[in-house]
Amino acid sequence: MTATVSKSQYEVKDLSLAPKGKQRIEWAGREMPVLRQIQERFAQEKPLAGIRLIACCHVTTETAHLAIALQAAGADALLIASNPLSTQDDVAASLVQDYGIPVFAIKGEDNATYHRHVRIALDHRPHIIIDDGGDVTVTLVQERQEQISEIIGTTEETTTGIVRLAAMFKDGMLSFPAMNVNDADTKHFFDNRYGTGQSTLDGVIRATNVLLAGKSVVVAGYGWCGKGVAMRAHGLGSNVIVTEINPVRAIEAAMDGFKVMTMDKAAALGDLFVTVTGNKHVIRPEHFEVMKDGAMVCNSGHFDIEIDLKSLGEAATEVKEVRNFTQEYRLPSGKSIIVLGEGRLINLAAAEGHPSAVMDMSFANQALACEYLVKNKGKLEPGIYSIPTEIDQEIARLKLQAMGIEIDSLTSEQQEYINSWNSGT
Ligand code: ADE
Repeated sequence: MTATVSKSQYEVKDLSLAPKGKQRIEWAGREMPVLRQIQERFAQEKPLAGIRLIACCHVTTETAHLAIALQAAGADALLIASNPLSTQDDVAASLVQDYGIPVFAIKGEDNATYHRHVRIALDHRPHIIIDDGGDVTVTLVQERQEQISEIIGTTEETTTGIVRLAAMFKDGMLSFPAMNVNDADTKHFFDNRYGTGQSTLDGVIRATNVLLAGKSVVVAGYGWCGKGVAMRAHGLGSNVIVTEINPVRAIEAAMDGFKVMTMDKAAALGDLFVTVTGNKHVIRPEHFEVMKDGAMVCNSGHFDIEIDLKSLGEAATEVKEVRNFTQEYRLPSGKSIIVLGEGRLINLAAAEGHPSAVMDMSFANQALACEYLVKNKGKLEPGIYSIPTEIDQEIARLKLQAMGIEIDSLTSEQQEYINSWNSGT
């Protein structure tokens, strides 16, 4: 086997950005009390001693705290970006300079660089992979079969990655345990909903500075992310329209008070379109054709496939940058369509991703999932595993404690009642 990646190797934009990055990392830490407690315990117990770990995450202030916690646990950790536009260059610099963590991530890196970084990460010969979207896991399976015997397991952060893992399992290609962090209650109820809800609109506002009150906002997809975006857009005074392919979710959206219709109909009505479906070409040429002049389109799903930008680019007579992360596509009719964040995750491209307080729980799940994999090394069959309920509940308990919220517990009479079947009417 080849050597692993050394601590002195890295690729970041500019190490002189480190002081600013450190300041921002410390600021984020104030909102991450759960991960902090885990880090303190990890520093004592070193549950990941001797473990080579690679994390493919958005390189943000919050991810910095995850990497620092994993390092405190004794892991030999390396970090790469999970998206070409989501890296915070000052954070990447600080992780290298101040915390001695190798990082391979530069905001705006091209796809070739992104995939080269994935392969560098695999050169580290990981025992554990923390993935966000599945690219490292898929590359491992496609190109590095000889390394699979060294893998203890992977953890997956996001819905898109879980969907890919499930397809991989169905095809008989998943030969190690994968922890489903996304579906932990303390992850998706908060990160996907409140995190995506707030940070998506934050990205739109930072990119455009438009007023959302009174605008028609079309939200494509009513999963947890879509619910969050719709709820927050409504809170800002927008008229929200939801499009769905799932009949149950469509009823939910309707009963939550939103208009529900097909994209064919919504296309002519929206001022702002946000895709959060996880599927491709949700907005296509026939939709661009009927959109209002100046309609804005953006995406908050994991990959940049939801808006058919290639077709829009081919149809456009001119494409120009009108603000940071804001491009105007002029069509032959004279009409313009405004594309935000190049169709990549707008919350991470134009803003800073989900706020620290929700990433606190998401990354607590990641840290504890890694510990769980090591504790259960050799005992888990290949497959996709839920985060154990005890871990999920413990994270919720710690978060409540940090928020200063006390809750009731069952009386012994209630305990008895809830566990019995023989007392009815
Ligand atoms: N995904 C969404 N927001 C994020 C953040 N702030 N850090 C890391 N990953 C994220």
